[in-house]
Amino acid sequence: MEFFLDTADLDEIREAYSWGIADGVTTNPSLIKKACDKLKASGSDMSLASYIEEILKVADGDPVSLEVIASTEDAMLAQGLFLYERFNPIAENVVVKIPVNPDMIGDGEVAFDGLKVIKKLADQGIPVNTTLIFSPEQALLAAKAGAAYVSPFAGRIDDELRRAIGGDFDKTAYFPEEGEEGYDDHGVVSGVDLVSQCVDIIAIHDLNHCKVLAASLRNPQQVRECALAGSQVATMPFGVLRDMVGHKKTIEGMKAFTADVVPEYSKLFE
Ligand code: G3P
Repeated sequence: MEFFLDTADLDEIREAYSWGIADGVTTNPSLIKKACDKLKASGSDMSLASYIEEILKVADGDPVSLEVIASTEDAMLAQGLFLYERFNPIAENVVVKIPVNPDMIGDGEVAFDGLKVIKKLADQGIPVNTTLIFSPEQALLAAKAGAAYVSPFAGRIDDELRRAIGGDFDKTAYFPEEGEEGYDDHGVVSGVDLVSQCVDIIAIHDLNHCKVLAASLRNPQQVRECALAGSQVATMPFGVLRDMVGHKKTIEGMKAFTADVVPEYSKLFE
């Protein structure tokens, strides 16, 4: 499974890459906003374009998703082409992120602009990561349109679950793949269930040009369940990636092994 960093924070990206297990980066306008705020607070006068170039260099050939900010076909296409032409020459690793359905009115109308743009970019050989996937059928459509990645938002479906069942939850709350009793939305019972169904539907229909990129992950258990479900990629915040290596029994074991080292053993290393 590939691990992507879901952040635009260069310090986090550099640190995670130093661990040797990072395979890419995903960004979105909210993550770019956070990074810009941090940059301004530090007093840096680095431009956003230079900052993005730095991210692309640190990722060193691994895919970095950059999202368009428009919501109509022509504008998204122009922005997607701009992002690719402007930034891909830096390290040959730009993936253009397009929303599956950029409609923001929500009055029952739907927009096919996202799918049309995915198709047009894919036809030009530009890799597309389809964002804001909340149903397996959206994933199927995006894969059919030629997307290189579909990003089901596991955590945000679980947010819906939290709201539906009430109670006091935060981003560390854990919801099992089979979902909470009494919650069912379009046949998707949890975030990991959404990812799992996307994996199955793409495999069943041989749409293997498209990887499932489990997104909006909130904790290591979700990453594990997505890995077990066969998701090819998981993108996660820095803190989730960091927490994956921790276990209190590992610390306990380290202390015990270290306490048991005899001088003869230490001497071997001198
Ligand atoms: O990759 C999508 C992600 O950035 C959204 O995460 O935690 O805001 O739902 P979250």
